[in-house]
Amino acid sequence: MIVRVTNIISASDEDYKEAVQAATALLAAGEVVALPTETVYGLAANVFDPVAVAKIFAVKERPSFDPLIVHVATRPDLDRVAIVPDDIRVTVEKLLNAFWPGPLTLILPKHPDIPDLVTSGLPTVAVRQSGNKIFRAIGKELGQPLAAPSANRFGRISPTSATAVHKELDGRIPLIVDGGACSEGLESTIIHIEAGEKRPTITILRPGPITKEMLQNFGKIQRPKRSNEANPMAPGMLSSHYAPRTPLLLLERVEDFRPESGKKYGLLSYTGEAGRGYVNLYSWSAMECLSPGNGKLPEAALRLFHTLRKLDEAGLDMIIAEPITEVGLGVAVMDRLRRASISF
Ligand code: TXA
Ligand code: MG
Repeated sequence: MIVRVTNIISASDEDYKEAVQAATALLAAGEVVALPTETVYGLAANVFDPVAVAKIFAVKERPSFDPLIVHVATRPDLDRVAIVPDDIRVTVEKLLNAFWPGPLTLILPKHPDIPDLVTSGLPTVAVRQSGNKIFRAIGKELGQPLAAPSANRFGRISPTSATAVHKELDGRIPLIVDGGACSEGLESTIIHIEAGEKRPTITILRPGPITKEMLQNFGKIQRPKRSNEANPMAPGMLSSHYAPRTPLLLLERVEDFRPESGKKYGLLSYTGEAGRGYVNLYSWSAMECLSPGNGKLPEAALRLFHTLRKLDEAGLDMIIAEPITEVGLGVAVMDRLRRASISF
């Protein structure tokens, strides 16, 4: 891979024209650029340019069997990347009216124009319309949908700020567009829809900001079968993911914590309040809280990857994570913690 200078260009809400132009020019020239979305930062390329898409896999060191998410700037562009089956069309439209632009990704039959590299040879494509207006402005200016996975190296923590992208990909990409901290902080919810006799079935392949509770009016919700090494693409998720370099243990039972003397342990706590969770369990070398004080799930989701990164940089031997209640956004937070945990 060519080592190069990675520029960071600021794109504040009022004044992002220059950033849009710089990013669009690079994308039009077949480059990859890191862009802000409302979930996590994405590493984008023109979806119809297979050479540019190949750069995404190289930069991330991502195996080619893990397919990418395609981002459309406008609703009509959906028909350029996917073919919506007639038997689920009404449900798809209802879902898009409710959640697009936003953190909901749909798995749909792919349009033949989408290069196989994007979908790893699958007959389906993952599509969403980002809620971030800078991201959409760049897609509109380019006039092409963008393939964009999270802008981290494969298997690592997703970046929720331009600084985090820089730590992951400095020297590997020409530009990071800094749109500030991501407002959701967790990757989009990925769903698959199937027509049913009475109601459609919605399978949540990856839990995220659009929760089961928010989806249940649109169909019967189904949990996916767990993927395994032999079949990582059922349903397109590898088990180990989102992992810090420091080993992390999601401590679901206190008895499983057997600290070794001389080792440094840090705690990822939900509230950080003394007397709650595992705060008093040990004399922690470092502690980060997902939602200080009362504990609120949206704040916990928003801060998860940021706090994990901070603990990863604290020189610990192990990170212990408290489990949180699996309702609403808590499902997505626990999914990420389980995938990061050595006990998974
Ligand atoms: O919020 C997000 O979705 C972020 C931002 C940048 O948009 N993107 C993101 O992309 O999380 P990535 O590549 O890190 O995760 C995409 C997931 C992968 O687990 C992949 O296996 C799955 O989507 N996926 C992609 N295409 C699929 C398909 N056709 N069928 C099943 N799973 C698919
Ligand atoms: Mg990712």
